[in-house]
Amino acid sequence: MLYTAYRNVQIQEISDGGFWHADEVHYESGSLETSEPVRSIGHWNKPDQVEIFQVTSGRVMMIVVPRSPVDVIYAANYAAGDSCVIPLGAFHLTYSPWTASTVFNISFEGAAPPDQKYDRHPAPEISAVLESNRIRLETPAGMSVKTDQLSPVLSSVPSDLAKFLCAARPSDLAELRAEVAALTAAGWPAR
Ligand SMILES: [Fe+2]
Repeated sequence: MLYTAYRNVQIQEISDGGFWHADEVHYESGSLETSEPVRSIGHWNKPDQVEIFQVTSGRVMMIVVPRSPVDVIYAANYAAGDSCVIPLGAFHLTYSPWTASTVFNISFEGAAPPDQKYDRHPAPEISAVLESNRIRLETPAGMSVKTDQLSPVLSSVPSDLAKFLCAARPSDLAELRAEVAALTAAGWPAR
């Protein structure tokens, strides 16, 4: 089993269309039969999707691949309390080889039908192998790997993401969408 996901543990609809929801995913530790670390499936977010993760227990590696151009992979470790903001439209995947981990996330979805929840672009050709307790990434030629966490300071997100969506005002959520969109449009994260 890859993981146990609790979907839509919180939902907040937005009056101008779309909705925010929160998920919580519990990962076991270790590796799969393929020697890959225990991981999520990975997907490309849609171009208007805002998504933020926060590790609530354990430790994970998240890989994030911004699009246009697809030339860099951010592969950083995140421990309990650390947050990862996904640039709009980016690919992301979580590895949890070292310890059981729990990862909470909030996401804004536009009004697209459920079968268009994810972008259908082919995934980047990235593979990972657990070697001596280290994750060794194999990436396409020409792609650079950076180990920076994607944790920009956002004015509307408190340190506890799990509490945020319950208490967020519509203006907080609008501000958050605008901030992440503006960051992405400005070329964040830097190549
Ligand atoms: Fe996503």
